[in-house]
Amino acid sequence: PHIAHCITALDFEAVARGVLSHNSLSYVSSSANAGLSLEGNLSSWSRISFRPRVLRNVSSILIRTEILGFASPLPLYASAMGQLGRSHPGGEVEFVRGLARRGVHGLISTVSTNSTEEIAAAFRGEQEKLAETTSNGVTAAFPPSQLHFQLYCHNDRAVTLARIRRAKAAGFRSLWVTVDTPVLGKRTSDRRIQVTEALELGLERAAENAGFGWRSHAPAGDFQPALSWEDLAWIRKEWGEGPLVLKGVQCAEDVRLALQHGCQGVVLSNHGGRQAHTAPDALTTLLEIRTYCPEVLGKLEILVDGGLRDGSDVLKAICLGATAVGVGRPFFYALAAYGSRGIERCIDILAEELASGMRLIGIASLDEAKPERVNASRLFNE
Ligand code: FNR
Repeated sequence: PHIAHCITALDFEAVARGVLSHNSLSYVSSSANAGLSLEGNLSSWSRISFRPRVLRNVSSILIRTEILGFASPLPLYASAMGQLGRSHPGGEVEFVRGLARRGVHGLISTVSTNSTEEIAAAFRGEQEKLAETTSNGVTAAFPPSQLHFQLYCHNDRAVTLARIRRAKAAGFRSLWVTVDTPVLGKRTSDRRIQVTEALELGLERAAENAGFGWRSHAPAGDFQPALSWEDLAWIRKEWGEGPLVLKGVQCAEDVRLALQHGCQGVVLSNHGGRQAHTAPDALTTLLEIRTYCPEVLGKLEILVDGGLRDGSDVLKAICLGATAVGVGRPFFYALAAYGSRGIERCIDILAEELASGMRLIGIASLDEAKPERVNASRLFNE
C-alpha cells in the first residue's frame, strides 16, 4: 500500500506483516507470559478522558519542548528497540536517518544490529545534509535532534565499561540504564518458535528445554542479575558529565531512590509488557507518583512508555506530569514497511494528533497541559 494510506500510527503494523518474517514478527510483537502487561499498556491510555475547555483562542500553539535539556520538536522520542536489522536491512542506520530528518530524539539499544559508531555517524551525516539545505536558504524546520544510549549492564564490568565509553566517544547525549531486565522476561511467542524449529530439525530434547533457563546457573551475559543501587554510583562516575536516566522504574519508591542516586530522569515503563508479568502500565505508575511522592515532579524528568499509539495518549501523559513519552513498536513496524520515510510519517501522524488534540481541549502550549485537563477520577476510585 502507498504510505499515504497510513493515517494512524497503528496502520504500519498491517503493512509490516506483509514484509516481516515469522521470527521478526514474533520478536517485535512478543510479550511476557500470558501477555497481560502488554494488553494493559495498550488499553491504559483510553481509561482516562479529557476535560476540554472551549473558546480559548488556539490559533497558534507551541509543542516544542526539551528532553533532558536538549531541544525537541515535540514531547516524544523513539524508544530503544534491539536488533532493528530484523525490521529493515538498513537497521538502526536507516532508523536514525528518519529521526534526524524530523529532529526527534532516539534512544539506541545496547543490542543494536549496527555498531554504536555507525549509528552515530549516520545520524550526524543526515544532520549535516540538513544543515547544507539550510545554508542554501531553506530554513530548517526542526532543531538538531539527539541520540541517547540505552545500557544493558553485562555481567563482566569490563564489557559494560566498554559500552559506556564507546557511547560517550560517539557523542551520545545521555545514558539510560535499563533496570527492568535482571533476566530476560518469558517471551512466550519466541519460545513457541524455538520449539517448532527444534522439532522440525528433529531435536526433541532441545524442543522440550526451550527457554527453561531456571535450570541453568549461567546468566545470559548481556544482562546482569546482580545489578544493585551500589552499581549506579560506578556507572554515574564512568559516564561522567551528562544526564543519567533509569529505564523501567515501576513504583514510586524507586523514583525517590533514583533521585537520591543522582539520576536526571526515570522512564516509567514495563518494557512494553515484555518483562514482569502484570507489571503496572506507565499511567498507573504516574498516578501512583502523583499520590505518594508528588514532590519528585519537577526535580527529575518523568518519561513514560508503553502502549502510546495516538497523539491524544501523549497529551494525557503530559497533562499528568510526564515530560515526554517514548514510542516503541509503531516505529519498528513503520521502519519495516517504509524505511526511514516510515519513521518520518509515523512522527508526523503523532505530532499532528498531538497538535490538534491540544487545540481541541483548548490549550495553546504544553505549559497548560495540566492534570485538570484529564478526568482520572475513575482510576483513583478503582
Ligand atoms: C524493546 N524494548 C527495549 N528496551 C530496552 O531498554 N532495550 C532494548 O534493547 C529493548 N528492545 C526492545 C525490542 C522490541 C522489539 C520492543 C518492542 C521493545 C522496550 C522499549 O524500549 C519500550 O520500553 C517499549 O517498547 C514501549 O512500549 P511500546 O511503545 O512498544 O508499546
